[in-house]
Amino acid sequence: MIVVTAASGALGRLVVERLRPSAAVTAVVRDPARAPEGVPVRYGDYDDPASLRAAFDGATRLLLISSPELDPRRRIAQHLAAVTAAAEAGVGAVAYTSFLGAGTSAAGMLEAHHATERAVRASGVPFTLLRNPFYGDAFVPVVTGGELLASTGGRGLNTAFRSDLAEAAASVLTGDGHLGQAYDLAGPLWTHPEVAEALGVPYREVPGPEGPMGWINAQVRAGALEQRSADLEKVLGRPAETMISRVLVGRAT
Ligand SMILES: NC(=O)c1ccc[n+]([C@@H]2O[C@H](COP(=O)([O-])OP(=O)(O)OC[C@H]3O[C@@H](n4cnc5c(N)ncnc54)[C@H](OP(=O)(O)O)[C@@H]3O)[C@@H](O)[C@H]2O)c1
Repeated sequence: MIVVTAASGALGRLVVERLRPSAAVTAVVRDPARAPEGVPVRYGDYDDPASLRAAFDGATRLLLISSPELDPRRRIAQHLAAVTAAAEAGVGAVAYTSFLGAGTSAAGMLEAHHATERAVRASGVPFTLLRNPFYGDAFVPVVTGGELLASTGGRGLNTAFRSDLAEAAASVLTGDGHLGQAYDLAGPLWTHPEVAEALGVPYREVPGPEGPMGWINAQVRAGALEQRSADLEKVLGRPAETMISRVLVGRAT
């Protein structure tokens, strides 16, 4: 039995959808009203360790999807509770949705992922680390007034779409040869000028927005999202969806 946590979320739903036709999958959620349909459901809250222990009972494979909690202290406590519960429940193997770079850095948003990776490795439970990039879904460029506007300095973005990351997770959960592996699931690099060219519109660099997106744009301009890896393609057994193909399909529909 494959158990998927945070199964009511966007990524969890996609993983459950992919696993459902061919595997026994159980969805773990906080609120049954938001559970994906067509699979057994168990209650599991990262803030309630006993619920996790019960939710993971009998799992041959567990997909631990990271919490959306923003406070790193609380997020670490949630993840460590899940890792402890996985070990206590004797799950066969755990796959954890980490983030690119978390193997070597605990800076900023990587803090909780870094701590969780260490806890997973120390737990004694066979594991696979799925180091996801930023979701491309949140970065699909939109043409405004006939132009493509961005503040990324024309540098590369290694985003990947949730659909591919979900398929990669499902493949790891059902396939062999993934235990002990840490996959850097960077997507195919793309830039805003390349997307503008593919759409046949001019590209113009503009001052970025404030807030989290402004921070991400500064990271892009500094080249921090240009890490490449063949792991996503390898796990999928095919090329990952590119940003250019997504925007061209979007234009055609
Ligand atoms: N790579 C990226 O670009 C990126 C972007 C955003 C987030 N993330 C991370 O990736 C994860 C999955 O992404 P997503 O798109 O599926 O996020 P999402 O749609 O926001 O889903 C978050 C999931 O976490 C569940 N959750 C929240 N608090 C919980 C708790 N205390 N105990 C158990 N479950 C809890 C939510 O349950 P409810 O339905 O009950 O709220 C929901 O199922 C996020 O949680 C976040 O850690 C990555």
